[in-house]
Amino acid sequence: MANHWEEVQKKLDSIREKQLFRETRNYQGIDFCSNDYMGMATNPSMLEFFQTKKNIYPFGSTAARLVRGNSNSMDQFESEFAHFVEGEAALLVSTGFTANFGLLDSIAAPDCYLFTDRLNHASILDGIRISGAQKKYYHHLDMNHLQSLLEKADLEDPNHKKKRIVVTETLFSMDGDSPDLKTLLALKRKFGFVLVLDEAHAFGIYGVHGKGLVFRDLTLSEIHSIDYRVYTLGKSLGLEGGIIVTKKIGRDHLVNVMRSFIFSTAPLPMISEFASYSLKLLSSMDKERDELLKIADTLKNSLKTNGFIITASTSHIVPLLLETEKEALFYAANLQEKGLDVRAIRPPTVPSPRLRISLNAKLKLSDIQVLVETLVQVREMWNSL
Ligand SMILES: Cc1ncc(COP(=O)(O)O)c(C=O)c1O
Repeated sequence: MANHWEEVQKKLDSIREKQLFRETRNYQGIDFCSNDYMGMATNPSMLEFFQTKKNIYPFGSTAARLVRGNSNSMDQFESEFAHFVEGEAALLVSTGFTANFGLLDSIAAPDCYLFTDRLNHASILDGIRISGAQKKYYHHLDMNHLQSLLEKADLEDPNHKKKRIVVTETLFSMDGDSPDLKTLLALKRKFGFVLVLDEAHAFGIYGVHGKGLVFRDLTLSEIHSIDYRVYTLGKSLGLEGGIIVTKKIGRDHLVNVMRSFIFSTAPLPMISEFASYSLKLLSSMDKERDELLKIADTLKNSLKTNGFIITASTSHIVPLLLETEKEALFYAANLQEKGLDVRAIRPPTVPSPRLRISLNAKLKLSDIQVLVETLVQVREMWNSL
């Protein structure tokens, strides 16, 4: 019989050989890598709010939401959030991962076609996998390819006995790019699929008052026709948690069937108290959002001028592409040594190695200049090895 610990050792050795070994490390230096895009995790006003809420008791939610874990603040945050993004209802869960995974498992089944962008987040891909749905991967952002797969499905199943579901992120966290939402909605009208959009990285930054990319790119009636929108509290809201916006019957359905919701302890009561406050602050930060997008443009132009290769980013997430895992690790380590917290992202998280530079509203133009100058120095060091 194979020895488990020998197997584990072998696997780790092979990960190390490929320069793919990962370990947890504490953060330090200027933040160019977190998802705290609006700086809410350290917002002084949030801290003051926390101090007025020291009496939140019990600390823990003590049970799943369907048992004793529900509280008024959860119900209140859900209705505030649904109202903010013009949805009928919302369901709060413990993480964005739980939200995607549980949602896809709940609405898909082996007799469905599930169309997914190749580069969708692991929580989406794992939810599809566990649902057993028939997976149809389309090339990243390629609406023509999606259309041809939908046409093929119509030939195979002309009477639509099988449900069709399409799922995509609205802003891809490892590439900084977005699908053409107008075309996607036109395809929905033509082919009649259930649409799931993950606004994790767009919420808080794009659209009026940071309501998300759908508010920048779509009309209100198009937004109302989206079946499910998934958000996380762990990025622009500066907290942790996940929230699904859908119709009232959609929420009732999830409450009754979504295993990752039913069989898991509810989020801490203080999360929803904080989330309501964070949402109010976030909606008033239009100036900070404008500034963030300006420094993102400055960074992209400056990197290109200096001969770096970046993805076709249209956002505040600016991935800088490198040739090898070793090179990505070298850049990240040297930037960190100089006080700039930039992280290397490697397969299998992404198809090719890169530095994922994510910008946040606390950064200043001078930080961007220091980053580019340091990158130029690190490139010289790498080239002289
Ligand atoms: C697109 C996307 N959706 C969902 C998640 C999961 O959210 P959470 O970190 O709240 O679990 C992530 C996490 O990075 C993500 O990038």
